[in-house]
Amino acid sequence: MASPKLFSLLILTSLLIVCVSCSSFEDQGSKVPPSPKSRKLIEAPSAMPTPPTKAKKVDLTLYYETLCPFCAQFIVNGLSKVFNTDLINIVNLRLVPYGNAHIQGPNSTIVCQHGPDECYLNSIEACAINSYPDATQHFKFIHCIENQTIQGKQSKDEWKSCSQQLGMDPKPVQDCYDSGLEKKLILQYANETAHLDPVHNYVPWVLVNTRPLYESYQNFVPIVCAAYEGSPKPEACKPLPPNINSTAKTS
Ligand SMILES: *[C@@H]1O[C@H](CO)[C@@H](O)[C@H](O)[C@H]1NC(C)=O
Ligand SMILES: *[C@@H]1O[C@H](CO)[C@@H](O)[C@H](O)[C@H]1NC(C)=O
Ligand SMILES: *[C@@H]1O[C@H](CO)[C@@H](O)[C@H](O)[C@H]1NC(C)=O
Ligand SMILES: *[C@@H]1O[C@H](CO)[C@@H](O)[C@H](O)[C@H]1NC(C)=O
Repeated sequence: MASPKLFSLLILTSLLIVCVSCSSFEDQGSKVPPSPKSRKLIEAPSAMPTPPTKAKKVDLTLYYETLCPFCAQFIVNGLSKVFNTDLINIVNLRLVPYGNAHIQGPNSTIVCQHGPDECYLNSIEACAINSYPDATQHFKFIHCIENQTIQGKQSKDEWKSCSQQLGMDPKPVQDCYDSGLEKKLILQYANETAHLDPVHNYVPWVLVNTRPLYESYQNFVPIVCAAYEGSPKPEACKPLPPNINSTAKTS
């Protein structure tokens, strides 16, 4: 049997544990914006030479709509850099397919800037994000659909050829669409888009952490690199040698 001394020690210890955990919850809960993604790291003292340090990934968020030409271009030719390089190691990419759509009437009907086809594809892409939560997976799929958009292939079920081409089962996406889960997802994206502060003025609208890039969104790589507090930075953050032939001009 435990002696009274040991017993009270145990009680004291458990009280301490409870208190430590509740105060740390309070610290996190108070004054922090609702999204856990917008939390900032406490800055480490930066004077001493540091060994490799891990840091929080940089949030890169794209607010877009599926049939907007600049959005499609940016996804296909811009954001693909995240995955073609080692930038993905420091980036938390989020896609929010809603853009300039709005909600109308008693049934919360969603009306899209480029019409019903866009609403349909917004839903398909929302379902893809939900079905394949890993960004590398759903980005491949969305990249393929947006490339179809650029190519002017817009028949309704063309997205299924992306599933086939990429070897990704279309069933979870189709089920999400058919079950009405798509509407819930879109309404969440609608709410998130409506709560942007500052508000979005156009699409594509790109945020690095909580900072909108406005018209310089295509230049997101150095901005992401600057926002990353860890070291070393990825290769993609190193400046290119100045004198190489620029055969790979971006359009
Ligand atoms: C709203 O939904 C109901 C039930 O599905 C339907 O009868 C009605 O026509 C819809 N109203 C509008 C404005 O779409
Ligand atoms: C876009 O699609 C076209 C036609 O299918 C293909 O030739 C091209 O390589 C694709 N572009 C990218 C960046 O994947
Ligand atoms: C809408 O978004 C705001 C801000 O992101 C969030 O605080 C709120 O919980 C959301 N509401 C719903 C119904 O999702
Ligand atoms: C640069 O391009 C020119 C012409 O396009 C070519 O003659 C030259 O060899 C290239 N230089 C290098 C270093 O690749």
